[in-house]
Amino acid sequence: MTELEVHLDAETQEAALRSDVVAGLTARRKWLPPKWFYDARGSELFEQITELPEYYPTRAERAVLTERAADIARLTGARTLIELGSGYSTKTRLLLDALTTAGTLTEFIPMDVSPSALTAAASRIAADFPALRVRNIVGDITQHLDFLPVTPDRMIAFLGGTIGNFEPADRARFLADVRAVLRPGEHLLLGTDLVKSPRVLVPAYDDAAGVTAEFNRNVLRVLNRHLQADFDPDGFAHVALWDADHEWIEMRLRARWPMRVTIPAVDLTVEFASGEELRTEISAKFHREGVDKELAEAGFTLDQWWTDPEGRFALSLARATS
Ligand code: AVJ
Repeated sequence: MTELEVHLDAETQEAALRSDVVAGLTARRKWLPPKWFYDARGSELFEQITELPEYYPTRAERAVLTERAADIARLTGARTLIELGSGYSTKTRLLLDALTTAGTLTEFIPMDVSPSALTAAASRIAADFPALRVRNIVGDITQHLDFLPVTPDRMIAFLGGTIGNFEPADRARFLADVRAVLRPGEHLLLGTDLVKSPRVLVPAYDDAAGVTAEFNRNVLRVLNRHLQADFDPDGFAHVALWDADHEWIEMRLRARWPMRVTIPAVDLTVEFASGEELRTEISAKFHREGVDKELAEAGFTLDQWWTDPEGRFALSLARATS
């Protein structure tokens, strides 16, 4: 049985895009939030990124999940699996399999901003797990966690290292919000990419085939389509750099020449100097101590810390502290 609950309509989304664009493009150092990468084309480009030889996080996380799914099922006894930012839910299958084999799971509740990704995943999941109640929730994980239903023995999964896209203060707020929806003893399964050599990190965000560059420029196409802007995506070079002080990867778009861009839907004209950069994403990388500390500050106890054999990516199993 699959159900769909919508907490985000197109108008609200467009209003959020407009306010982000005004805030980000009128700032002295221009920026845009990474969530606007993911229209249908952006989601498709991200799927391609996950298959690139340089982009190790997806494979590394899948290796940990494959190794530990049965442990996760046994340790949590989860009857409800909630997945935040689930997208196409490809890695989630490993959890669904393990929790079904363990015999505890009755409900799967994926939450994502993209209804198309949710419904595509849902029909496949419903076919493979006919006894499972699938409740798809279209919502923004930074705004709509309160809409998550209160069901028995929940585990919230937030995979892929997406937590790294939040600024540190937003990250703390988000973890506290996740804690607030859980009852003591319920679980959080968190995927985090780990600090490692920039010789490995930078190519993961600047691949030889140029897929990440296209993904990065896609945000300009989103603005062109939704806000009638006239960005020339080819006028911007893809930049990926390792910020060693913050321990995050930063993606930027660098103007190749001076540009004046008009964005009619927000009544804005934006000037770019030649070489000026627009920050489009941070992707923070972590150490065990930092994850442990941030989870504790949000009201979680870190029960398990698992990495892939090469120590590139970690899965944390945490319990809501009483
Ligand atoms: C899906 C947010 C985890 O930060 O690695 C991939 C997105 N950006 N390549 C990441 C992304 C550039 C990805 N997350």
